[in-house]
Order: sequence, then C-alpha cells, then structure tokens
Amino acid sequence: MICGERCSLRPYEAGDVADLGRLANDKLVTRWMTATFRYPYTLADAEAWIARVTREDPPNAFVILVHGAFAGSVAIVPRDGEVLGTAEFGYWLGRQFWGRGIAGEAARLLADYALTDRGLRRLEAYVWEPNGASARVLEKAGFVLEGRLRDGVVDREGLVSNLLIYGRLATD
Ligand SMILES: CC(C)(COP(=O)(O)OP(=O)(O)OC[C@H]1O[C@@H](n2cnc3c(N)ncnc32)[C@H](O)[C@@H]1OP(=O)(O)O)[C@@H](O)C(=O)NCCC(=O)NCCS
Repeated sequence: MICGERCSLRPYEAGDVADLGRLANDKLVTRWMTATFRYPYTLADAEAWIARVTREDPPNAFVILVHGAFAGSVAIVPRDGEVLGTAEFGYWLGRQFWGRGIAGEAARLLADYALTDRGLRRLEAYVWEPNGASARVLEKAGFVLEGRLRDGVVDREGLVSNLLIYGRLATD
C-alpha cells in the first residue's frame, strides 16, 4: 500500500471487478483515453484487465482508494528493448471523485514510487490537448511538457487534436 493524504494506492485484486466495471463504464471517463479503454466498458473488460494485471510481479497497475473505496486507477507500463528503463504512465478517476486533487496526488505517489523503488529513469505520459485537467495533474506530479504532436490524435467522435507529451526523469 502506498499512502497519501487524500488517497492511497494498492495493487488490483480479483474482487475489484464490479467496482472497476461500474466506474469505468462512463463515456466522459473514457473520452480521452486510448481506444483500448473501451466504451461501453463491460464486466468482461474489467475481468480481462484484472486477470492481466494481477499476474504482474511486481505490480504495475494500482487501484486508487479514497476512504477505502475504489475511486480509479493509475498505472505504469514498463518498456523494454531500446526504451528499457522507461515506462508509459496513465490514470483515470471515477467521475464523482473529480475536482478534489485526488488524481494529482495519486499520480505523484506512483511516479515517486516508479522512479525510486522501481528504478525507472523516465516516465512518459500522453495527453490530448483539450484535456486540461489531465495536463495539470501531470504538472502537479512533477512532469514537464516535452512536446506537442500537432493533430496527433482523433477522438471517438472524430475531433482531431494535438497530443501533448509529458515526461519526468528520476533526476528531475
Ligand atoms: C483528468 C482527471 C484524472 C483529473 O482528476 P482530478 O482528481 O479531478 O484532478 P485534480 O483535482 O488532482 O487536478 C485537476 C487540476 O486541473 C485543473 N483543471 C480542471 N479542469 C481544467 C481544465 N479544463 N483546464 C485546465 N485545468 C483544469 C484543476 O483546477 C486542478 O488543478 P489545481 O489543483 O491546480 O486547481 C479526471 O478528470 C479523469 O479521470 N478524467 C478522465 C480520464 C482521463 O482523462 N485520464 C487522463 C488521460 S491522459
């Protein structure tokens, strides 16, 4: 368990399927997430995700708990080959938990853990430019804006936007 003031992080458990399925099945949550985060998000999607991440040792995906309740998720995806030592970084929160500083703290907790305890040298996050709250979450977690892929992404309604690349190094 990784503990902060507003939230704590713990690895996923098999019993999280119902909470994950309920909170993730929200068009506003999935809107600016990678297309593999589907909408509608079904219980089968939740089961498949949890089956995958609970096999990882050490764990890379964490449940965000607020007063003990499942509130969302934050994860790293460590890479190998020529990008060994780096990881992609992502997070989401159930809609009723937005606007309370929870994602900012959860992102900082996981980034600190990944860059110290896990020995990664670089974390990288991709943000759709209209997602201002997410860009701010990353800034609060110590990431810096490194680049802007112009017209880099298209959302599920066909709206094209720039893709921002944020990074944080262990040495930052
Ligand atoms: C993005 C998300 C994680 C933010 O969670 P949150 O707990 O509300 O975030 P926080 O409260 O920690 O921080 C949000 C910050 O963005 C600011 N903000 C909110 N809306 C904003 C906007 N439209 N533009 C700019 N800043 C905005 C808030 O004021 C706050 O900053 P502050 O603490 O300096 O006041 C949440 O909205 C979410 O889960 N969205 C759907 C999934 C998603 O987009 N994930 C990220 C993919 S890259």
